Formats: sequence, structure tokens, C-alpha cells
Amino acid sequence: MSTFEYRDGIIHAEDVPVTELADKYGTPLYVYSRNHFRAQYNSLKDAMADVSPLICYSVKANPNASVVRTFIEEGAGLDIVSGGELYRGLAAGADPSKIVFAGVGKTREEIEYALKQQILFFTVESEPEAIRISECAQKLGVTGRIAFRVNPDVDPKTHEYTTTGKKENKFGMDVARVEKACSVAASLPNLELAGLHMHIGSQILTVEPFAEAVTKVSNFCSRMKTTYPSFKYLDIGGGVGIKYEPGQRPVDLPAFADAVVPPLKKLGLSVVMEPGRFLAGNGGVMVCRVQYVKENEVKKFIISDGAMNDLLRPSLYGSYHEIVAVKECAGSAQADLVGPICESGDFFAQGRELPTVEEGDLLMLKSAGAYGFAMASTYNSRPRPAEVMVDGSQTVLVRERETWEDLVRGEKS
Ligand SMILES: Cc1ncc(COP(=O)(O)O)c(C=O)c1O
Repeated sequence: MSTFEYRDGIIHAEDVPVTELADKYGTPLYVYSRNHFRAQYNSLKDAMADVSPLICYSVKANPNASVVRTFIEEGAGLDIVSGGELYRGLAAGADPSKIVFAGVGKTREEIEYALKQQILFFTVESEPEAIRISECAQKLGVTGRIAFRVNPDVDPKTHEYTTTGKKENKFGMDVARVEKACSVAASLPNLELAGLHMHIGSQILTVEPFAEAVTKVSNFCSRMKTTYPSFKYLDIGGGVGIKYEPGQRPVDLPAFADAVVPPLKKLGLSVVMEPGRFLAGNGGVMVCRVQYVKENEVKKFIISDGAMNDLLRPSLYGSYHEIVAVKECAGSAQADLVGPICESGDFFAQGRELPTVEEGDLLMLKSAGAYGFAMASTYNSRPRPAEVMVDGSQTVLVRERETWEDLVRGEKS
């Protein structure tokens, strides 16, 4: 099944022409393909079948209720980083016993909420956090399960903002500190040491960093497993990269599995994974409409109704999103695709060969299913876009476009 491909000169989302969606729901518009999400989940599940991991979809990538529910229905658990994500996940029907809770700054309120729901475990970033979870668990008369987050000091060779497993990053602790923290945690009341967690970064395109990280923690895990009978899980995080640019090679799943499955199998721990981008990234696009085309002595600018508040990645990380005309057009020329926001950083592409479009034409930014709408804001008082889920020839508006009234809700003058 093809997703976001031309059919008779018009891009279709599964079986639905994107022109129809833009006319019906307006632009800028996020469009998702449910069958792409399903296919990604099942390809990972199949590749890793030998260790049957619990695949916890990383809600931060795309928290839309319909997206989250799609993965839950396939059998996924959830990786969450806030009380808000827990709330969303439960509302979407998640089984709390398949939820893992990460993040360096969990509040008491968030911890108590998660303890009451009896989530699978917290991934814990420091000793003080373990102490806090123990205190909250005592207060509620329950047991909190934890997995310390190890920082294995591996360079994932990705963007510096999404590198999380090197010494200089704020995340996790080195192996020696984790070992000490485990013995402290073992002596704390109402706490159970469930295993170990790591997440070395995002959009990782090679297999080696994952293999290196698993190898680095293997001996340690074996020791912990013998010392603490409750130590049952190794959570290897997310980070599996996808194709954004033409010609870019995404992580080769069989090679990934070949590298990590044998050492994981040998360890004999239950494996947890936390993919976000891999599951959602190429299952979504953002569609915008050209408002103006303007040229000066040095440049041509295509000004769209979509902006950095709708899709931040190009401005934040300098990320590449492939841009195509929704109605196939012959010509192309070098131009910047920009939005209406009052910042020179408000661009989707700079100096790129782009389709020759004019006012009213539709452009589509590919690979916007992860960290797209999730990072949208109302900067410049622009209501956030609508989101539509396509499943074959069915479409459902899964988030209404915000209105000007939404913008001022809760404010007082
Ligand atoms: C702890 C943790 N797990 C999983 C993820 C998901 O990463 P990705 O979308 O690259 O798979 C992230 C992303 O920031 C994370 O911080």
C-alpha cells in the first residue's frame, strides 16, 4: 500500500486525494496514515520477534489520541514523560501495566498519579528521584517499580540537541553511579528495582551506536540480575532513525536486529523499546497553501500559510523535510519556503529547488508525523492546525483546527 504518493497527478493519503482534504479541512493541515503507523509497528515487532520486546510508543512524538490509540490497538505500551502524557495515554485506552515513565524532572504530583495507576516502571535519572518515588509510594501504601537510566557514553552521531547518551548530557548516570544508586534503592522502602533503562539519542541512522550501548551495559545487567531478583527488564529506549531526505538510508531493521538481538537474548531480560519517530515520522505530512510568491534581487520566496509555529523542526534543528506540490507540476526553481511569522528563522526550506507554484497551490511537507504537531505552538497568535487521520478511503478529523476564541481561553484582561 502506498502512502502519500501521486495518483493521476495528485498526492493521495492512502486512497484519499490530499486536495480534497485541504479543501474540506483547510490549511495548514496535518494528515496521518493509519496503515503506515500499523505497518511500522509490525515491522519492528517482526524484526525483534526473537526477544518479543514490549514496544512502548513514545507519546511525545505525536500525542494525538487517535495516533496513540492506533498503536495501542496493535499491542503497544507507552513511553511517557509527563502526567499529561499519562492522562492522554489512559484516555486513549492504554494498559497501565505497559507504561514506562521517563524524564529528569518528575514532580511529586506526577509520581503519585503514576503510582496510583500502577504503571510498569519509572525510568529514574538520579538518586534523589528514587528517594522521592519511595516517599510517594510510602504515602500511598504501594510499591514503585524503577529502572535507573544509565548514560552509556555512546556517541549516536545525530543532532547535538537529540544526543542524550554522552557524558556531557543531562540524562541518566554513568554505570558506576547507577550501581551505587541500585544499592541505595534496594534499601529504600516501597521500591522495587525492576531493571535498567537507556536512551542514547534520536534519529540515529546506523546500527553501531545501539550495538555499542547494549554491549556496554551487558556485564552490568548480568551482575544486577544476580544481585537483585526483581531486576527483570532492559529498556533500550528509542532513537531508531527514518528517511527524511531523498537518498537518505534509514536504519536497516534486519541489521539492527542482527546487532542487538543476540546480546539481548543472551542476557535473558525482558526487553522494552521506546520508539517514537520510527513509528510515527513518515506516517504524517503537513499540507500548506501558497499565499504569495515574491522575489528580490537575490532570492525567490514562496510564502505559505504554514509557519514555524505549525512545524518547528526546520527552524529548531535545521531539519530537512521533503517538499512536493500536491498537484504534480512540471517546473521547479530555487526558492525559500517561508511562513508569515515575524522571524527570519521562520522557514521550511532555504535555497532549495522547489516546485513552481503560485498563489492558491498546495505544498506538502513530508515526514511530519513525529515531532510535528507535537511541537506546534500558537506563536504570533496563530491557532494550531487541524489533524486528520486517513485509513484506506476513510478520513476522520482527529483534532479540530483551533479558533481565535481558543487562543484567549482562560485569559483575563
Ligand atoms: C527517554 C526517551 N525514550 C524514547 C524517545 C523517543 O525517541 P525517538 O522518537 O527518536 O524514537 C525519547 C525522545 O526524546 C526519549 O527521550
